[in-house]
Amino acid sequence: TERTLVLVKPDGVSRGLTGAILARIEAKGYVLADLKLVHANREMLEQHYEEHVGKPFYEPLVEFMLSGPIVAATFEGQGVIAGFRSLAGATDPTTAAPGTIRGDFGRDWGLKVQQNLVHGSDSPESAERELGIWFA
Ligand code: GTP
Ligand code: MG
Repeated sequence: TERTLVLVKPDGVSRGLTGAILARIEAKGYVLADLKLVHANREMLEQHYEEHVGKPFYEPLVEFMLSGPIVAATFEGQGVIAGFRSLAGATDPTTAAPGTIRGDFGRDWGLKVQQNLVHGSDSPESAERELGIWFA
């Protein structure tokens, strides 16, 4: 069965939204298979965001992800990768559709990074690679 890595990013954890976010994924019918609170380090984030190295938002993104604890979860189910990304909504929380996690809980806080509450893997290959980083 398909699986994906979901991260509740530091903004989601610090705002007390972890339970609300995980509840939406469970209510959709996906199965929680692993869960932990993680203080990321730079090495993990360099691997996790390797596709974004050199982009203007890369350094602010890494700093943001180091700014507080992250909740890492494995969710399973047919189509969970696309299904979770649909639940999460568009990358930019200002315009993410209402009804999505980013659309309902997110906004622009005026910083150099999109504080958009969650991460979800974007392909089966990414999921396996990312799960190896966060659940090593
Ligand atoms: P993830 O599920 O977190 O991977 O989000 P995504 O797949 O919707 O976005 P992407 O992988 O392209 O970018 C990873 C993260 O970098 C995003 O979630 C944002 O936090 C941040 N980011 C992406 N694009 C931009 C951008 O154009 N500007 C800024 N400031 N941040 C960005
Ligand atoms: Mg991505």
